[in-house]
Amino acid sequence: MSSGTMKKSHSQWSSRMGFMLAAAGSAVGLGNIWKFPYMAGEMGGSAFVLTYLICMFVIGLPILVLEWLIGRRGQKNPIHTMEDVAVAERRSRNWRWIGIIGVLGSFLILSFYSVIGGWATDYIFLAAKGTFHHIDGEGTSQVFKQFLGNFYHLLTWHTIFMAATAAIVALGVGAGLERSCKIMMPGLGILLLLMVIYAAWVSGPAFGKAFNFLFTPNWSLIDSKAVLAALGHAFFSLSLGMGIMMAYGSYLGQDVNLISTARTVVILDVVVAMLSGLAIFPLVFANNLEPSSGPGLIFVTLPIAFGSMTGGAILGVLFFIFLTFAALTSSISLLEPTVELLEEKTRLGRKSATLISSLVIWLIGIACLLSFNEWSHFKLFDKNIFDLLDFLTSKLLLPLTGLGTVIFGAWMMKQKEIQHELQLNNFWFGIWTVLTRYIVPIAIIVILIYGFME
Ligand code: PHE
Repeated sequence: MSSGTMKKSHSQWSSRMGFMLAAAGSAVGLGNIWKFPYMAGEMGGSAFVLTYLICMFVIGLPILVLEWLIGRRGQKNPIHTMEDVAVAERRSRNWRWIGIIGVLGSFLILSFYSVIGGWATDYIFLAAKGTFHHIDGEGTSQVFKQFLGNFYHLLTWHTIFMAATAAIVALGVGAGLERSCKIMMPGLGILLLLMVIYAAWVSGPAFGKAFNFLFTPNWSLIDSKAVLAALGHAFFSLSLGMGIMMAYGSYLGQDVNLISTARTVVILDVVVAMLSGLAIFPLVFANNLEPSSGPGLIFVTLPIAFGSMTGGAILGVLFFIFLTFAALTSSISLLEPTVELLEEKTRLGRKSATLISSLVIWLIGIACLLSFNEWSHFKLFDKNIFDLLDFLTSKLLLPLTGLGTVIFGAWMMKQKEIQHELQLNNFWFGIWTVLTRYIVPIAIIVILIYGFME
């Protein structure tokens, strides 16, 4: 069956722009603002940045394109899309497992993503109340510790964040996902630019230092750990391997050029990560803080900078609004595959499907919350529930699904049709083939193995 001949079974994005903003909204998230800067900080800055850039374009982009392509052919939720497309290619129905694992992954990730989204939302109010005024490192760690220790407090914010996510998703693809991203994404761009300008203005020479830290390549700093982390992060950052982009592709019309759209989304994702670095590191350097302070960078280190400078409270509020927006445009994408599945496979309408899935995710989220306080002693394989979920999803489910998708797309599907659909000439399709048949699968297998040896 050639592309475009399967029947359209449900709604569509209203425009290419709307789709692109929604996909970029999914991609741009905590990964760009929270994870990327601290990883760059820990792994020697520019060397990591360059490796990450290469991984985004060489590994991330082809998988992104394939997820959309398969989703657009199937026009259904990821599980039934995989099944239908596999059958149309005369392959086993069991390829649907890619969809099953993907949906499961997005479901589980949302349960802890919502917890961190809740932290970001609460920090808007903490910054506004002046909690960080003239605070020192001891103080911010104390704030963060107390915050994590308070179950009811965390629960409130997790609930609020999850409710906001559900409210948007319940409205549907056009009125919910697309419209909210059309509002939040430009808002996010403006906030980010304001922050970079502000950071450059208040931190003086430290801005140059931050710039060099991020952009002056020093290849000697690259080691295998940095390469693998960059590879894994490219995956996470583009929301790959979770059925999300496949679900988004299922609402996509035939007229959209996948490669050029993917290129724009990858560029936007990368630019936001870089600009976040340029907003954060000047403040870190100007205040003589540690760039390599790890996951606490934006919740523990950055507030010290906000507390110590003129106008820091405003900047802090802006920063955490920005973080909340970014998290929200990703969390709605995490909920979509499950809702799409329930909507299509049960008699539930969109609203009830959203309500039920959100409730279950909210409950699992509570187990994550408890792992920071009451249940912190409960460990399996030396990991608490939160770490366990993170490990299971980003180290195992995501790469597995990504691997399945690329093997399916490169070895199981008719390549002539793909070449036609992607509108690539023979030269570029040759490159595409080498990437998708060999380089990408091998890279993923290496990440998988490494993830287990760690
Ligand atoms: N891509 C998002 C980010 O960078 C995270 C995410 C992962 C979103 C998986 C959806 C699915 O933060």
